[in-house]
Amino acid sequence: MPTVDQDPATQRRTATILQMGAFDQNSVPEAALGDLVAQAAGFFVAAPYPLRIITRTAPISLIGPIQRLTERMVQTPRALWPALDSEQIYLEWAQQNLTLRSLRSHLLVWSDGVFDPEALAGLARERFGVVTAVVGTLPPLFQGRYSEQLDYLTPLGGPAERPLLRVLVAYQMRGEWSPRTLHALLRMGYAFTLVQDVLTPPPGTADGEMDRAQQTLNVQVDVAAGQGEQDTRGETAKAHCTRATLEVQAGQRLHRVAHLLVLQADTLAQLNKTTQTVVAELAAVLPLRVEIGRQAALLSYATTAPTRLLPTVPHWPVLTQGLAVELPFGVRSEAAGGTEGPFLGRDDAGFLVPMPSWNKPGSDDPESRDMLITGEKGQGKTTFVLKGALGEVTYNDVQVVILEPQRHGQRLVNAVGDKAQDPAGQGLFHDINFATAQINLLDIVEPNLVDQISQVRSLLEVLMTAEKVQRDIAGQGMFTPQELGALGQALSEEYGPHWQSLTPTTTPLLHDLCARLAKIPAGRKLARDLRATFVDSVSGAVFDRPTNLPLQLDEARVLAFSVFDIQDRYRPFLYGLFTGAVRRRTRRKPRAQRLLVIVDEFGYLVQEPTLMEAVAREMKTCRTFRTAYWLVEQSIRTFDEAGWGQKIADIVSAQIYFRQIGTAPEIARRLNPEFTDEHLAMMRRATTGWAVAKVGEQGDIYRLHADLTGYERRMLGGA
Ligand SMILES: Nc1ncnc2c1ncn2[C@@H]1O[C@H](COP(=O)(O)OP(=O)(O)O)[C@@H](O)[C@H]1O
Ligand SMILES: [Mg+2]
Repeated sequence: MPTVDQDPATQRRTATILQMGAFDQNSVPEAALGDLVAQAAGFFVAAPYPLRIITRTAPISLIGPIQRLTERMVQTPRALWPALDSEQIYLEWAQQNLTLRSLRSHLLVWSDGVFDPEALAGLARERFGVVTAVVGTLPPLFQGRYSEQLDYLTPLGGPAERPLLRVLVAYQMRGEWSPRTLHALLRMGYAFTLVQDVLTPPPGTADGEMDRAQQTLNVQVDVAAGQGEQDTRGETAKAHCTRATLEVQAGQRLHRVAHLLVLQADTLAQLNKTTQTVVAELAAVLPLRVEIGRQAALLSYATTAPTRLLPTVPHWPVLTQGLAVELPFGVRSEAAGGTEGPFLGRDDAGFLVPMPSWNKPGSDDPESRDMLITGEKGQGKTTFVLKGALGEVTYNDVQVVILEPQRHGQRLVNAVGDKAQDPAGQGLFHDINFATAQINLLDIVEPNLVDQISQVRSLLEVLMTAEKVQRDIAGQGMFTPQELGALGQALSEEYGPHWQSLTPTTTPLLHDLCARLAKIPAGRKLARDLRATFVDSVSGAVFDRPTNLPLQLDEARVLAFSVFDIQDRYRPFLYGLFTGAVRRRTRRKPRAQRLLVIVDEFGYLVQEPTLMEAVAREMKTCRTFRTAYWLVEQSIRTFDEAGWGQKIADIVSAQIYFRQIGTAPEIARRLNPEFTDEHLAMMRRATTGWAVAKVGEQGDIYRLHADLTGYERRMLGGA
């Protein structure tokens, strides 16, 4: 039956073997898919030789991370063991149940010496838009020896983990094929090898081929399966033939393609079940049959043996366009970044998505680990960051500080053991309230005086706004330019030359500042107003005292602060205070100690541009100090309207979009032009725990589910 091998030049037995990379076709806008197909089709026109695409799944092992967790048990305090233990159980479950497989495609081309291997690789790279490399050999399909049964193959002797094999052959192609048709198979997660064997008749014989194909030609539409009457079918077939003839004249070629599937399973029962599922799943496009009695012989299709030496299987006529549609390269096959935990969650293709790295790939250079997390209320944002934080503590010894308004930080503290209950605990929770808190907003947090003065000024301004202070001055804002000058002067005089070594008890207080200000003519009125509001009033008991909140941030591995008891209008002030304290901690902690800062309901800070600016500036540099920020906010709009959206999106190494409504998905796309309609639709459809995530330096996009371990569900995910 294979007639194309008559040309003596194609008798060559050796194929060029190209290893093909993959890309995520979901990231390609719908409108660009046509171009993609046309571009890929160019390969088959330029290289009209017998070729074979062999796509195989390879297991990804979590043994490494699982072992690492066991080692961590020895290194970490007992309070962290339940979290580690549960994580280990989760990974073991994942190893058993998730699609922890990567896809590997090889393209074999018998180009009879017209193309040298590198030239073919270049052509493939350019046409398919994926990384390609010439390799010497095809990885073997199986190891050891197998014995042939009627409809499957069993391994002989050797290690028990070698699977049973079964070869299926497609006798037809049906229905409409799109570039995503094969994804159903590729993402199913079973262990298999897909062989697409392609014969391309030399141009001279194309007409003859066309004639032979006349009766059966089925380019992209299934004729035989149609429910229509005989006449209609005939008409359609004829129309297809005519179209095919025209297309061939217009530069496409006619190819004949065979599909074989080699399934793998550990038991016969499993093999039968997998067979049933795959056959049912593909029935509409690729009806597969289990081959009886020639299982061993057909296995050779998964090798470099030329087609003419192999047993005959049906080769179905397909135009170049159709071949380009069938390419299996459009499914990302594993999470970039490997299998090092902790994990953000699970992609809908079934693999675990690791967090972006603390280091640049292959080096010790620090990398941004900042994240932006947005999404509607109740979609799982807080749960996600608490889970992530727990992972950072257990896997990486990271210190975590969190500020949030709902006392959810207490959950994280409970999960690592509450030091207030048990001295061995690793966390402490602080409910901030003005009945007990004392806050000196003159506390030193910045490494240079200009920034320090600007921080105090920002805090004063937000606090005065919260107190609804009416200032009888010209212009907007809380201070006149002259007052700002006076404030700066008074602060630097009051701090003195040794300001950097001031401690919470030696730092000047607000009444000291007022006294100093009162001596400067331009500051006299401001001194009076500040004194009236924050010193001589009831507020003096809070704001004219040395700070008693543990803002040194060094008491425990996990520190949670909640502003639950704080009225809404004072929250921006506390957020500003907290982020200032974090900047100080960032510079005073041991450099190697990683610090994760979580700010939930970050919108409180965005309201105050000067405080927000300080955080944005800090995020640009904090990675060198091994500090990372995770910013959580309901609406991406909050950032966008305040003008911070693009800046934050550019800085962070991951953006997590839980369910988005209204125009929010469009804003997300404006910040990330590579988001496709499909990604936007995913954001709108997302249910609790699901998100569209853009992760890492390459900006890989995943549809992510934050799987919770049993322990996380118990400790973090409570309603
Ligand atoms: N990953 C998840 N898996 C399962 N349930 C979740 C998950 N994340 C959140 N939930 C459920 O949804 C509720 C609300 O989640 P939460 O994290 O508080 O949402 P948000 O912070 O976005 O308002 C949680 O109490 C929990 O019951
Ligand atoms: Mg929340």
